[in-house]
Amino acid sequence: MPTMAAHDPLDLPPEEIRRAGHSAIEAMAEYLGSVRNRSVYPRVASRDIREQLDDALPQDGVPFEELLHVFRDVLVPNSRHNAHPRMFGYVQAPGIAVAALADLLASTLNANLTAWRSAPAAVELERLTIDWIKQMIGSDPGAAGLFVSGGSMANFAGLAAARRAKAPGDFARAGAQSLGSSMRIYASQETHHSIAKAATLLGLGSDNVREVRVDERFRIRLDDLEGKIAEDLRAGHLPFCVVANAGTVNTGACDPIAEVADVARRFNLWMHVDASYGGFARLAPSARGLFDGIDQADSISLDPHKWLYLPVDCGCVLYRDPQTARAAFAHDAEYTRVISHEADEAFAFWDYGPELSRRFRALKVWMALRAVGVRGFAAAIEKDLACARHFEALVRANDDFEMLAPVELSIFCFRHVPAALRDATDTQLDAWNERLLVELQRDGSSYLSNARIGGRFSLRGCVMNYRTTPRDMEVLLADLRRVASALPVQ
Ligand SMILES: Cc1ncc(COP(=O)(O)O)c(C=O)c1O
Repeated sequence: MPTMAAHDPLDLPPEEIRRAGHSAIEAMAEYLGSVRNRSVYPRVASRDIREQLDDALPQDGVPFEELLHVFRDVLVPNSRHNAHPRMFGYVQAPGIAVAALADLLASTLNANLTAWRSAPAAVELERLTIDWIKQMIGSDPGAAGLFVSGGSMANFAGLAAARRAKAPGDFARAGAQSLGSSMRIYASQETHHSIAKAATLLGLGSDNVREVRVDERFRIRLDDLEGKIAEDLRAGHLPFCVVANAGTVNTGACDPIAEVADVARRFNLWMHVDASYGGFARLAPSARGLFDGIDQADSISLDPHKWLYLPVDCGCVLYRDPQTARAAFAHDAEYTRVISHEADEAFAFWDYGPELSRRFRALKVWMALRAVGVRGFAAAIEKDLACARHFEALVRANDDFEMLAPVELSIFCFRHVPAALRDATDTQLDAWNERLLVELQRDGSSYLSNARIGGRFSLRGCVMNYRTTPRDMEVLLADLRRVASALPVQ
């Protein structure tokens, strides 16, 4: 017989909310307090997890404790632990407890941030928080923006505004077939795939994203950028947008933003800066100079769910001239018509981005910034940078590993070159490092992902965690050596 819940689960009385809430917060504290001692990655197969989940469509409710048991005993042990100090894969933040609590409160209020009239206090808080982010990033003081799901959506929104601003005629109404020529975007070979994806979704076509060559530090080459623009002009195409990376996903390279802005000005291009990974590193004194010129960006993508350490999801797009975004996104519909004369209260986020219903993402950003302070974030980011540099120094001081790219921010790309493979070809080293990566992930003490650098397979790590210490970087190297020593060289 199914256990009947003692109370209406749709409308829990306050004492039940307190009881369930205490148990949930206890589970949270227990988890975060013990995460360092866990394996970063579980050894588990899809089938094993499904077997532990009751997969019948539930007809009757069960008490909250039974659901929490699934969190504790099924979800936690079968998860990759993104909060672990040696989770170096991809661009992964650990989350902050204060922000998780903010998410709980945001869902409690269930504010829907479509327009000011729908959520007056929440909208004010989002506008205030966006203003703080502008100051942290050093964008144009007149810029405005909003929170979106992540960097991919921010890139999409930035390019949508760019297309609207630079397309001849009314692209929004007449569509791509009204263009007499191909609208072209320029971005380095190292650019995140969400730019090409946005070009596809926006009807521009991914073939119209010109891949610009990079220099030895993986930064966009200005001569190749100008060369490709000139070539396209000669061929009758319409160059309209250049993307500058403020931290590439592969190696963390920062394009020279001020110089790219200069090219954009000369050729009348929109400059979009993808600062999804690197943007908040501007807070760290040792990296600040890399972001010079960001105030000249027409649009900027940021990801507070990366280097503000917040739980997903939270991306952010800023537009230098908010009217350009309005032109791209505003649509008239009677059910969204705002009947008000005061500009502040007539404000609607749907005029500046792709979404209508929007969660209260701003609360976790605001609470985290208030709780930690900009100085706290700056120190944590500086420490992440120092950890990556420490790792680079360790690799350069040893001859069984080699760096494949310089460390620019907190990403490190390298490979293992054991004595037995000292004379091996790149292909053999690629195969060896690929096997080593799989075994390291299976081992569970440290977690790396991979990249292709100059055609070679690279082990790749990214430090983005206030828990990570220089000692963790040494443990990573020791883990790699331990795992490698148990792996037969073929
Ligand atoms: C440079 C860069 N741009 C965009 C993105 C996409 O961000 P999101 O995963 O939040 O969509 C990433 C993700 O790692 C990134 O590193």
